[in-house]
Amino acid sequence: MKKIIAMLAMTALSATAAAKDPHSHAEPGKFLVRHVALDLRADFEARRLEGTAELTVEQVDPEANELVLDSNGLEIRTVHLIEMSGRAKVLAFRLGDPDPILGRKLTIEFPHCCAATAEMRIRIDYRTSNEAAALQWLEPAQTSGPYPFMYTQGQAILARSWIPIQDSPGIRMTYSARIKAPPALTAVMSAARVEDPSATPGEHRFEMKQPIPAYLIALAIGDLAFQPLGDRVGVWAEPSRLAAAAYELADLPRMLETGERMAGPYRWDRYDVLIMPRAFAYGGMENPRISFVSPSIIAGDRSLVSTVVHELAHSWSGNLVTNATWNDFWLNEGFTSYLERRLVETLYGERRAEMEDAIAYEGLVQTIADLEAAGLGQDTDLKLDLAGRDPNEGTSDIAYDKGARFLRFLESRFGRPAFDAFLREYFDAHAFLSMTTEAFRTELLARLAKPGAPRISVEEIDAWIYSPGLPPTLTAVPLGVFESVDRAAADWRAGKIATADLPVKDWVPQEWVRFLDEQPADIPHAKLDELRSTFRLGADGNALIALSWLQLVIRTGFEPAYPDVERFLLNTGRWRLVETLFRDLARTEAGTAFGREIYAKAKPGYHQSIRDAVERLIYPKS
Ligand code: BES
Ligand code: ZN
Repeated sequence: MKKIIAMLAMTALSATAAAKDPHSHAEPGKFLVRHVALDLRADFEARRLEGTAELTVEQVDPEANELVLDSNGLEIRTVHLIEMSGRAKVLAFRLGDPDPILGRKLTIEFPHCCAATAEMRIRIDYRTSNEAAALQWLEPAQTSGPYPFMYTQGQAILARSWIPIQDSPGIRMTYSARIKAPPALTAVMSAARVEDPSATPGEHRFEMKQPIPAYLIALAIGDLAFQPLGDRVGVWAEPSRLAAAAYELADLPRMLETGERMAGPYRWDRYDVLIMPRAFAYGGMENPRISFVSPSIIAGDRSLVSTVVHELAHSWSGNLVTNATWNDFWLNEGFTSYLERRLVETLYGERRAEMEDAIAYEGLVQTIADLEAAGLGQDTDLKLDLAGRDPNEGTSDIAYDKGARFLRFLESRFGRPAFDAFLREYFDAHAFLSMTTEAFRTELLARLAKPGAPRISVEEIDAWIYSPGLPPTLTAVPLGVFESVDRAAADWRAGKIATADLPVKDWVPQEWVRFLDEQPADIPHAKLDELRSTFRLGADGNALIALSWLQLVIRTGFEPAYPDVERFLLNTGRWRLVETLFRDLARTEAGTAFGREIYAKAKPGYHQSIRDAVERLIYPKS
């Protein structure tokens, strides 16, 4: 009987088990964590989470007698096996040596007597380190009110720093949680809220019924208010930001409907957005049911909502069909960026989508050049090899924009209706499963072998997946959308248009970005000075315009505006903004020195993964 159950479990594993994850100690061929019940108290003084995680574990290999979990900085107090009777039996465990990237292997031993049941409950009593990589604890001064704030960031391999777990994107589990927070604060999670009349003040309960990988388990605690924006959608924010957030996100119901029309039913019941404090590490993080989103997207004119469209699109690509390992990261981000552009086109028109597409393309070309110059040409393949490295090093425009362009190429050969049908079938067939690049490739080739399929050769496909740079089958980039901006820019530089006469009244923020991005490094400082005073360019206002302006300031060595570079970097913790500017600073010696000076001040406000990313740039290992 035992054997039969084990065999059934093996088949249920499908493609997942086949993909060895180089970033996890987990041994899914032996045991699988199916459910996690968290019971945690958030201690804002000590900056720790403390309590228990009860794992429901399925025995896959009947011979296995050790359960291996990931952990990083966790202080494990006890491990118990909870018997059917409810009795707890102490289990021995050991922690391996700390690995700077992977953390410590947590091995739990089963005495022979206890390995008889196919499913068992293991309770781990623990607390997190006060420097847990997933957690960011913010002082009231870092929020927009008088209260502190904390949140978790699981992606890529940080979940293990707050939960002892099989931390691999190919392993899915459901979860429930009881969180104790200071009574004045509210907790939200990537799960359904469970109303509990018997709950004491400050106690919050959650339930996630859909199986997800550990990196999508998420928690945030702060002074939060909620505003519904439709039956299934709404926004959470600190009270002082709620009205502006609700205005900015008024299109949320339409976004969700458009997503469903393109990618199939929304399978997570609700979709809410949580507007984070400025220190939040990302533009957005696709935690299921509730995307965590940077306040830098609130521009006042809804011009930056494509970030929300992106996180919503992850409800299909990433959260429903998940990259099996971080080497397959493009399956998450490339598919999502492709969907994002398609949805933006439907929601905001072709022109807006083309502008964002053209801007992304210029970024991609720069990224490829930078990676090649750094001797990292192999990181420009879609399929990555990040074994032995921090998987966040794979987070570049390659996964996002080369990935999206690969799908754009496939779309051009299939024709849009056929490709859309292929995508929908893909999401349906692999819902709540993980996917490797190789399995996707196999599926694509099988589709291409069917009668009436478009002609695409294996070589053409593999040139995208396994070769550096951009292949010859790249589809045309709609740079023409910026023709009038480019003309105005050229005339302005040639002195044919005065600064005050630039036709900026007609420009959307994306056109401003193009205008600033296209300015050469040798433009006279007097012209920059005029631009700055005429249009009040600086560290504030639309975050993407500010970013492009400050990039121009660094590129041209326009020192009068350097204090704005510093102010901007002290005011945001958002990866793309922070990393872009530090990368630009690191291009020169003087810039590196300035960057180090800024970083010394900004570091306490940055999330651990952003610190790592900045340090890789300004303190490179020679
Ligand atoms: N999942 C990513 C954020 C992420 C990537 C977290 C890698 C940890 C490791 C998220 O969906 C994302 O891509 N965010 C972007 C915004 C998007 C519009 C490109 C960001 O934060 O800039
Ligand atoms: Zn993304």
